[in-house]
Amino acid sequence: MIEIFAQVTDLTSLPLFRQKWLIDLIYLISVILFILGLKRLGAPRTARQGNFLSMLGMLIAIIVTLLNHNIVSFQLIAIALAAGAVVGIFMAKKVVMTAIPDMVAIFNGFGGIASSLVAVAEFLPKQASQTANNDILFYVTLILSILIGTVTFSGSLIAFLKLSETIPGKAIMVTFSKFLNVILSMGIIVASVLLYNDISQMHFFIAIIGASFILGITLVMPIGGADMPVVVSLLNSYSGIAVAMTGFVLKNNSLIVVGSLVGASGIILTNIMCKAMNRSLLNVLFGGFGATSTAAEVSGGGAQGTAKSSSAEDAAMIIDIAESVIIVPGYGMAVSQAQHVVKKLSDVLEARGTKVSFAIHPVAGRMPGHMNVLLAESGVEYDKLYAMDQINDRFAQTDVVIVIGANDVVNPAAKSNPSSPIYGMPVLDVGNAKSVMVLKRSLNLGFANIENELFFKDNTMMIFGDAKKTVENFLTALDELG
Ligand code: TAP
Repeated sequence: MIEIFAQVTDLTSLPLFRQKWLIDLIYLISVILFILGLKRLGAPRTARQGNFLSMLGMLIAIIVTLLNHNIVSFQLIAIALAAGAVVGIFMAKKVVMTAIPDMVAIFNGFGGIASSLVAVAEFLPKQASQTANNDILFYVTLILSILIGTVTFSGSLIAFLKLSETIPGKAIMVTFSKFLNVILSMGIIVASVLLYNDISQMHFFIAIIGASFILGITLVMPIGGADMPVVVSLLNSYSGIAVAMTGFVLKNNSLIVVGSLVGASGIILTNIMCKAMNRSLLNVLFGGFGATSTAAEVSGGGAQGTAKSSSAEDAAMIIDIAESVIIVPGYGMAVSQAQHVVKKLSDVLEARGTKVSFAIHPVAGRMPGHMNVLLAESGVEYDKLYAMDQINDRFAQTDVVIVIGANDVVNPAAKSNPSSPIYGMPVLDVGNAKSVMVLKRSLNLGFANIENELFFKDNTMMIFGDAKKTVENFLTALDELG
């Protein structure tokens, strides 16, 4: 069956498809679709279209690759597709929303190891025929593909284990880790040069793979769980660079361009996340932030007095007479899966003539765009969502702010307390509104493990309980108020 498919689809036997330019042209079309898709993914309104264009580009790239019989046999591809699909479907079905960052981490790792394995498969026959070092570009990109791909794999594995709390998330400051990293890097360079001089020395090749694997572990191990999402974004960029290197090895332009796109967008995203958390990338990679602030429960300072606890019914009476309401979602909304009732609350308030907006902090939740995805899933219109810069000035003219499971992103200590670990991080100025309602289960700390003085302010009322339940109670109380 597979053989018949192979013969029927053997378009390379047609004169037109024997032309390399045609294959390259089709790859170019898929690359253009990726670029257009990426551009459209930049805004919520066009994101679906962007996803579709990227998927179309990927489908075209897969088809043209399958049509080129020089690459690999259909049997092997069918087995790999089936195995990958089973694992992928199982993982995607099993994963809960809050564990998506873990899954993204492990997927980056798979991308890295795939590049590495392709490079190994290219090296072995050339090593047997003693020609692997004939072309310097081929050799250098092959080594880089193995190095970056393997570092991405082992580093992502550690990120996955930390995020899923299989191993402690805190920064494990491996003694001499920086020294060890330098030794490993030097070792890889020396082994690569020696292997280039005598390609038959297989032990150098194995040493390069082994040292790269250990380097991935020693690079990520000292980084605290608090910084893992930034590291995952950086590893995503690495996986793209590894793909680009593999593109040079295979002389495949499509892989070079697509790998570079992933590498560049991963770096841009890493930069955006660092800025939103007021951290430099160097500080994330070598600062051991998680070793101090996450593990040690640092006090934000200045959080004094007693927090005022109110009932959903009391809160509903204030909401009832409010002319303007801003909803601020955070990680707790994702945990309680409250997005659908939040949309309902927004609809009910609008029907009563209240102006409702949503304020989205760039790092609310646990991954980029986390809140946008949840609110889009529940059908909240895009024009109601405002980025921090667009809405921060409006809090002072707002009657009620409802903070739903957010903590760090509304912590005034980021602006008022220079000794706070989050000092300098841009935050939503919710405290400027007339009334602030904070929906969370307790006075427990947020992701950065620091106190939040917002909870103790005069104009703040705490409504304790699961966010979804509390919003449902709001709806019932508003209904009763008529
Ligand atoms: P957090 O500061 O993590 O606070 C979430 C709050 O939700 C907690 O204080 C928790 O309080 C509450 N909560 C949990 N489950 C709840 C439930 N079922 N119902 C009601 N409340 C619940 O969240 P945030 O304000 O969104 O800030 C995000 C943090 O993650 C920032 O520190 C950010 O730097 C960090 N971070 C984000 C990213 C990205 S890209 N988004 C990446 C790396 C790091 P209770 O336990 O009292 O309920």
